[in-house]
Amino acid sequence: MSEQPLLAVSDLAFAYNGAVAVRDVSLEVRPAEIVALLGSNGAGKSTTVKAIAGAHKPQHGRISFRGEPIAGEPCHVVVRRGITLVPEGRLVFPQMSVLDNLRMGGHALSSAADAARNLDRVFSIFPRLAERQAQLAGSLSGGEQQMLAIARGMMSSPALLILDEPSLGLMPKLVQELFQLIQRVNGEGVSILLVEQNVHQSLRIAHRGYVMEKGQIVLSGTGQELLGNEFVRRAFLGH
Ligand SMILES: Nc1ncnc2c1ncn2[C@@H]1O[C@H](COP(=O)(O)OP(=O)(O)OP(=O)(O)O)[C@@H](O)[C@H]1O
Ligand SMILES: [Mg+2]
Repeated sequence: MSEQPLLAVSDLAFAYNGAVAVRDVSLEVRPAEIVALLGSNGAGKSTTVKAIAGAHKPQHGRISFRGEPIAGEPCHVVVRRGITLVPEGRLVFPQMSVLDNLRMGGHALSSAADAARNLDRVFSIFPRLAERQAQLAGSLSGGEQQMLAIARGMMSSPALLILDEPSLGLMPKLVQELFQLIQRVNGEGVSILLVEQNVHQSLRIAHRGYVMEKGQIVLSGTGQELLGNEFVRRAFLGH
């Protein structure tokens, strides 16, 4: 495809105290794409997205965003460039209101007007959070907390939103709702890199996907191709 990728990762490697977690990882996210990053436990998915978001400094490889090199930049700089990672686990501030949690997500924005506009936009995508904006985040249901974590990620106006296992621990009905929300966020023009264990549903909404095993990418293709791929079916879909 001729279009310049929004995010391009090549030959990325990262080791924790000498223990290699990721090597030779190359992947791309193009504008307005949903890209799934799949793989079993310990495959290196979180390590990869943390390196992209600036939480880990890669020992090797290149990461470029909008054509500019970003590998090794700290998180707050990467956020300002337009990449936001919503990490594994529901990391909301339980003693703060929903509204204050969202405001924390927008603090990287330059103006109060931008923050207010963003809040309106986020509330239109997540009406349930608008209804509960005064409630303490810790009193939200697990599913609502996950929505809040994603909504907070949206507050910094990312061009690329990275979600690390957003559906973990949610009941099937909420998983369905979450995937619809991810599609709505993407419909607003936000590119999404989606780390998921929920392989079937992710591949149904993903334009493309990558499969990791033991720190490396072993397979890539369109969502449809991967859904029909024999290795994917055997390893993740149980048939
Ligand atoms: N902070 C850490 N210190 C040492 N080793 C780590 C650390 N975090 C991850 N690892 C190791 O790096 C490898 C890749 O882990 P990573 O968390 O990236 O996998 P993952 O694909 O996200 O798995 P999961 O699906 O279980 O979340 C694993 O072998 C893991 O034990
Ligand atoms: Mg992980």
